[in-house]
Amino acid sequence: MYIPEDVIQSILEATNIRQLIGEFVALKKRGHNWVGLCPFHPDKDPSFSVSEDKQIFHCFGCGEGGDAFRFLMKMQGLSFPEAVKALAKRSGISIPDPARSRASKKRLAERERILELNELVTTFFHERLLNSKSALDARAYLGKRGVSSEIIERFRLGWANEEWDSLIGFLKEKGLSTTLAERAGLVVARQGGNGHYDRFRGRIIFPITNKSGRIIAFGGRIIKQGGKAQPKYLNSPETPVYHKGRVLYGLSQNKGAIRQRGKGIIVEGYMDLLALVQAGIDYAVATLGTALTEEHVRLLHSICRKWILVFDSDAAGQKAALRALPMFYASNLTVSVLTLPEGHDPDSFIRAEGVTIWQRLEEEAPSGLDYVIDRGRSRYGDDPEERLKAVKDALVLVEPVRDPIRKSLLISHISRKLGLREESLWEGLGPNKGTYAKRGGLRGRLAQHGKSDREDHSYNNNSFKNSGSAKLIGFLLSYPTYMEEFIDAGIDLWLDEPPLRDLWASMSHFYGLSGKLDLTGLLRQLESIPDLKRLAVRLSAEFPPCVDAEKEAARWKRHSEDKKKRAIRQQLLAQYRQGDKEMDDLEFLRQIQQLR
Ligand code: UTP
Ligand code: MN
Repeated sequence: MYIPEDVIQSILEATNIRQLIGEFVALKKRGHNWVGLCPFHPDKDPSFSVSEDKQIFHCFGCGEGGDAFRFLMKMQGLSFPEAVKALAKRSGISIPDPARSRASKKRLAERERILELNELVTTFFHERLLNSKSALDARAYLGKRGVSSEIIERFRLGWANEEWDSLIGFLKEKGLSTTLAERAGLVVARQGGNGHYDRFRGRIIFPITNKSGRIIAFGGRIIKQGGKAQPKYLNSPETPVYHKGRVLYGLSQNKGAIRQRGKGIIVEGYMDLLALVQAGIDYAVATLGTALTEEHVRLLHSICRKWILVFDSDAAGQKAALRALPMFYASNLTVSVLTLPEGHDPDSFIRAEGVTIWQRLEEEAPSGLDYVIDRGRSRYGDDPEERLKAVKDALVLVEPVRDPIRKSLLISHISRKLGLREESLWEGLGPNKGTYAKRGGLRGRLAQHGKSDREDHSYNNNSFKNSGSAKLIGFLLSYPTYMEEFIDAGIDLWLDEPPLRDLWASMSHFYGLSGKLDLTGLLRQLESIPDLKRLAVRLSAEFPPCVDAEKEAARWKRHSEDKKKRAIRQQLLAQYRQGDKEMDDLEFLRQIQQLR
């Protein structure tokens, strides 16, 4: 099967080799590279190295190495086309039908010619900004807005002067086709079909690049408020190389810094991005005023896993945040929301307040989930309907999460913050909404709970008294300093007995509120639930003092890990057997492998 080279390239572009390999091999950062144990030969010292810059891997032990395709071929015994297909699927890229490949070759050639033209035109505009007399005002304007010459160079800013045929003159002089320039969105055909005129006039030019740095479009900012209603910013129209929902301004320039830091910032405007970079916040990208799309999120995903969304504090900003956040949760990205003080955008804010205060806002930015919960909490007051709305807004984020552990942790987080039982929240995900619920995985779990709920509802029932879970809870009640280590261990994924689940929920709730657990405090909290209180007293009393608490904790840690893995494995297998469409073979293999 023939797969066009540009498709192969874009698949590679959309793939981050470290993330891919990280799904199979535990990698640690060492210097510029990431190292781990080689999966292709018995390896004791990590001799397997992954370079994120070069997007290759290499084993110094057995000599295996290559790109992402090579890795998958070796790892899963695939042929090259199979590996290409697997990675294409993973990054959501469709491979064109070979029957259409002749047409696609033609399109490819045109795309290439447009990219070359854009490159020449960028240099033309840039020269103009630096040297022409007509750019005096533009240079003054940029100076006034604090844009340095380094920024002008690095982002190759330009100037399109006021005339109608400036660029056209350049094209003619160089013997370049105006028809092609029209396809590229640089010139516009005159009505009546008589020649062309320049699209960008009297504007500072911002070249827009794709991930690999090629220029695919332009934005232009007006510097004089003309009499006619002109838009402040004018962008290239959609062209064969430019689709606005897929572009992040600054990505090609800043992706190195973003990878290095392991986090990135998302802002809206050209000037916002440039102001941040100039202040040393060089790990940012801009959406150019469009709402964030799934394609944007896919691009973000290929660079790093942790993103900070910056929004205005107004209603439009909140709405944009609520719309964008679920996509991050669905893609297993970590996201937080930085809300700017009223009346500021990132550009004005960083100029007014400086980088230290910006960084504090960044550190204090709540996670997407907390942002939604806090927003809800500040609204609902005593109104149960509003409170329900807050819960629903929060569940919208959790619903698309596919990693069962993460999902479970998020649910218990909501439960703690909004004061609702985890079970109700799981049910609140709804029979048709949750990926697990829909496919039976979660429903199975809920059904199981329902059953045991009915069979064994009394806290005084002793049937679970000697179970491992009861002992673990007893251990934690007796040695509460170890709570810290167990709090995020996903115990509620496998803890089956309802009384123990409830006790664990109260313990983690208490811990979440006060940052520690002490038995007397907990018992006071449980005053109103006498059965649960008695259970807590009994379990802690029955747990024998241990000689070596450290060792005991480690033992329970292992116990908990095993239980958790088994529970998740069962869920995964059930899902897989039921033919969960959203889980392809690769995903399944990855998840199962991680549980070994
Ligand atoms: P804003 O209106 O917030 O402008 O638009 P800004 O970025 O703060 O611009 P300055 O500081 O006045 O120069 C945010 C983004 O929306 C897009 C641009 O990408 C802009 O950066 N936009 C805005 C347009 O495409 N067209 C417009 O007319 C206005
Ligand atoms: Mn602005």
